Amino acid sequence: MTQAKPTVLIIGVTGMLGNQIASAILDKGVMTVKALVRSNNSKQDKLKPLQQRGMTSVEGNLLDMPSLLEACENVDAIVSAVSGSEEMAVTGQLNLIEAAAAKKVRRMIPSDYSVDYRKLDWGDNYNLDMRKKVFSALESSQIDYTLILNGCFTDILFGSFANVFDFAAGTFSYWGDGNTPFDTTTTNDTAKFIAEAIADPTMANKALEIAGDIITMKQLLETYQNVTGKTLIANQLGSVEDLTAWIEKTKAVATSPYEYLSQQYLFTMVSGKGKLDNIANSQYPHIALSSVAEYIRQAGL
Ligand SMILES: NC(=O)c1ccc[n+]([C@@H]2O[C@H](COP(=O)([O-])OP(=O)(O)OC[C@H]3O[C@@H](n4cnc5c(N)ncnc54)[C@H](OP(=O)(O)O)[C@@H]3O)[C@@H](O)[C@H]2O)c1
Repeated sequence: MTQAKPTVLIIGVTGMLGNQIASAILDKGVMTVKALVRSNNSKQDKLKPLQQRGMTSVEGNLLDMPSLLEACENVDAIVSAVSGSEEMAVTGQLNLIEAAAAKKVRRMIPSDYSVDYRKLDWGDNYNLDMRKKVFSALESSQIDYTLILNGCFTDILFGSFANVFDFAAGTFSYWGDGNTPFDTTTTNDTAKFIAEAIADPTMANKALEIAGDIITMKQLLETYQNVTGKTLIANQLGSVEDLTAWIEKTKAVATSPYEYLSQQYLFTMVSGKGKLDNIANSQYPHIALSSVAEYIRQAGL
């Protein structure tokens, strides 16, 4: 008799990363995939291809405990890729931990996918404070955890949220001296490592640190220019101390953390404070991580 595959419940399959996680877990083929999807979700185009490959879905919401208890029934592991406000990221994931514990789910990957927030001080980064809270709850629960730490997503680094590349203006803006290394990994590579880690019992109560590249701001600009043959105007915005002062000044009058969140992420990178110290790309040697240069070529930037 063949043994049933363990079941993983994924939160956030209609989102950017969660969709890639579901696909990577299905590709690996050793777990059954179940997605928690909010009612009336309009992103059927994101669900259908995965459902055709065997993913099942249950209706639920991180803010609705009965739906979480039902979703966690007969689940072995959870991968959370939720994003959003404190209510979703903290209250929602704490609810998830409570439901998972009640249903004896063995392991959970919380929605981290970031720099090493364990090294940061409270207040350094609004979003990463939320991860600290969820990790603390997970650590004191009966559920095993696995943290996935990948630095900045390479795809995001080139997008508008990061405030580094402005292709329309032809500029490259950075804080600090440009010589501090930081970690960067594509979302696609991160999803592949998540698929490995959630199926790997040796990863219980451990952090998996990965990096497709370790690069400084100056090297990032140089790599972009070398690969594309295009030139951008480098714009040094100030020192790390200037960045900290900018954040504090903006925070004092901001009506939303999103007015300074991007700069708080940059702080964790250009200060070196969120640097990954135990990168273990070789944990799953069959995954070839994309460097920044490879990403630029693949994305056709
Ligand atoms: N390191 C980096 O550079 C970096 C960059 C970007 C993101 N991230 C991290 O990666 C993770 C995923 O981010 P993302 O950009 O992929 O997120 P996203 O695209 O915004 O997707 C969020 C997902 O969460 C679901 N969701 C939200 N509230 C929910 C609730 N109450 N109940 C159930 N599901 C709910 C959404 O469902 P609906 O479709 O119903 O809205 C969606 O599927 C986050 O932790 C984020 O901070 C890291």
